[in-house]
Amino acid sequence: MVPSVTLNTGAEIPIVGLGTWRALDGQVTEAVKAAIAAGYRHIDGAFVYNNEHEVGDGIKAMIDQGVVKREELFIVSKLWNTFHVPSLVRGACKKTLSDLKLDYLDLYLMHCPMGAKVWKTAASYQTQNWCKQSKTSSNLVFSLRLQPGEEVFPLDEQGNLIPDDSNFVDTWEAMEALVDDGLVKAIGVSNFNKDQIEAILNQPGLKYKPATNQIESHPYLAQEKLIDYCHSKGITVTAYAAMGSPGRPWVTPEDPSLLEEPMIKSIAEKYNKTPGQVLIRFHVQRNVTIIVKSVNPKRIVQNLQVFDFELSEEEMKMLLSMNKNYRVFPMPWGTKHKDFPLNAEY
Ligand SMILES: NC(=O)c1ccc[n+]([C@@H]2O[C@H](COP(=O)([O-])OP(=O)(O)OC[C@H]3O[C@@H](n4cnc5c(N)ncnc54)[C@H](OP(=O)(O)O)[C@@H]3O)[C@@H](O)[C@H]2O)c1
Repeated sequence: MVPSVTLNTGAEIPIVGLGTWRALDGQVTEAVKAAIAAGYRHIDGAFVYNNEHEVGDGIKAMIDQGVVKREELFIVSKLWNTFHVPSLVRGACKKTLSDLKLDYLDLYLMHCPMGAKVWKTAASYQTQNWCKQSKTSSNLVFSLRLQPGEEVFPLDEQGNLIPDDSNFVDTWEAMEALVDDGLVKAIGVSNFNKDQIEAILNQPGLKYKPATNQIESHPYLAQEKLIDYCHSKGITVTAYAAMGSPGRPWVTPEDPSLLEEPMIKSIAEKYNKTPGQVLIRFHVQRNVTIIVKSVNPKRIVQNLQVFDFELSEEEMKMLLSMNKNYRVFPMPWGTKHKDFPLNAEY
């Protein structure tokens, strides 16, 4: 049994879950099956990962084989930026449900506060040009298409996200209707700063408070203020990129690597654990839910073996002292957007 964190809906979210970003076709179904067999009950996905169909195949196989029941699982997905206009929210959620082969989600997050325009026509080629210019890999989500001519990552010639005319508070209201209609059990946000969360909380007529804010966090980006703020409002926090996302396409050899940090390695040696397990345990002891992506069966099992040791108070302080507000997801394409979340102090 993986310990859980209680959401403000009363539901329990297992504190460690499986991430699925860049878990590629042909690998992710097996990864989901291996994770459920290993005891994972929390799976984190998103429309924009372009693999929800395969994630759903893995979930369905394990339910059909009787390994797990639907109600024992906690399945999370995210509303992508191009579906912020309220009339698009329901369709986006239903597409995710159909790909996952599920009747409901346990948690549906607004992936990001920045709404973006679904952009048709030949302009989509500019996105691919931008990818080339910035030397990013060609199989990035940037080049995903909804339908021929529609981009999920609409960027202008300068590489900036093309905004829609939505307001995330209105998007939130449309997400509330998904709860009322039974399509999702809880709703939350991701990549929101304090002021953006306040804007939702202060909305007259607010029906449901965000259950979770899913944010980047690890020892280089401890996020203490934002986590404390969320917890003070009864909003749980889920950390992504807990390993520092070493598989991100834009990583360079000069980038600092959490998994290679001598301090983390020496703590790991002391407990006969791996650096990855120490990085997971760091969040567990902050009561922060954590999702780690792996398609490697050995690491999938290892990443759940974090409940048989405890970091000392001093070790937690040492890990927190590594904070340098270093982001592996700085979202350079969003800096010009009115709702870019990362300029705020927290
Ligand atoms: N809300 C958002 O905007 C957002 C953004 C990014 C990510 N996410 C979610 O958070 C999840 C996790 O983030 P992430 O995938 O960027 O990064 P991550 O979990 O920090 O790192 C995943 C990478 O680390 C490797 N890995 C996994 N466990 C390991 C271990 N114990 N030791 C060493 N290496 C290990 C994986 O390789 P193998 O697969 O080969 O094991 C993979 O390359 C995503 O998959 C996604 O579900 C959300």
